[in-house]
Amino acid sequence: MDSDPPFEETYKTLFENSIEESKINRANQILITCEECELPLIDIGRLNMEELEREECKKEIARASQDWGFFQVINHGVSSEILEDMRSEQMQVFKQPFRLKTNHQYLNLSAGCYRWGTPTATCLSQLSWSEAFHIPLMDISSSGGLPTTLSSTMGQFAATVSDLAQRLVEILAEEMGHKSTFFKEKCLPSTCYIRMNRYPPCPTSQIFGLMPHTDSDFLTILHQDQVGGLQLVKDGRWIAVKPNPEALIINIGDLFQAWSNGVYKSVQHRVVTNQKVERFSTAYFLCPSYDAVIESCVEPSLYRKFSFREFRQQVKEDVQKLGYKVGLPRFLV
Ligand code: OGA
Ligand code: NI
Repeated sequence: MDSDPPFEETYKTLFENSIEESKINRANQILITCEECELPLIDIGRLNMEELEREECKKEIARASQDWGFFQVINHGVSSEILEDMRSEQMQVFKQPFRLKTNHQYLNLSAGCYRWGTPTATCLSQLSWSEAFHIPLMDISSSGGLPTTLSSTMGQFAATVSDLAQRLVEILAEEMGHKSTFFKEKCLPSTCYIRMNRYPPCPTSQIFGLMPHTDSDFLTILHQDQVGGLQLVKDGRWIAVKPNPEALIINIGDLFQAWSNGVYKSVQHRVVTNQKVERFSTAYFLCPSYDAVIESCVEPSLYRKFSFREFRQQVKEDVQKLGYKVGLPRFLV
């Protein structure tokens, strides 16, 4: 289809080398099949109830963030209409011809908003078989170029999801004994972003939809479809997340792990590909401004304090030099 990025042409040599590689992969068992599981499922409708239910719910959120770094929420207050509208708008945009998607003037987005594959990949196991629009929330309000229905739907989605993100980080801070205004002050709508992901069907299960990574933010809210493919590390093993149509997935990012001094975990996750069907997901990343300084809320601190700008710069340098993100270990004291 002319809307699909030219994966096979562009990464032709990687495919040619892949016969050797697949032997190695089998030997290393890179993509060992893993069990499917239900992430902790938390009914956050209880946050609007009596104190006892409310407190119990907050404890569950904190416990899941410590033990898993990942959980699902239901009765989250983001209406199914908004989620469905967002998904159908997203599908429309990805259906546009590839040529158009790579032309940033088409949606009047900043250059680099549309991403696909992995330009630095030197073998198939470093390639992410996906395409994405990475959209700073600032661009939604200021852009006259986005189709009006897309920008208004994204605006509504962002508004409700950012409310949810703020409530969750406040609860998590409070559970650590900190009534903090830090997140409200530093993570403004203009510093957060949305990523719309599409995972086209992939000819081989040897390739990731998205390479293993941790998120470089405070907290991520993910809405995925029913295809499945998201996996995360729990107790040293990869576990597949079973899609739940009612739920949003929440995960802790690197910055929150640093802020909480390692109490809340930013865990590795990845997406595996599907050979038959395409998959869609939408992620909201709660990020501070570049000059915000991240430091642990307790002493002695595991990590030295750093600005978000410094963190992003370090990640960028590592990816360029080493081919992968080192992340928080760079900032250990
Ligand atoms: C991400 C991510 C998972 C998914 O965008 O950072 O981890 O299921 N996405 O698309
Ligand atoms: Ni992620």
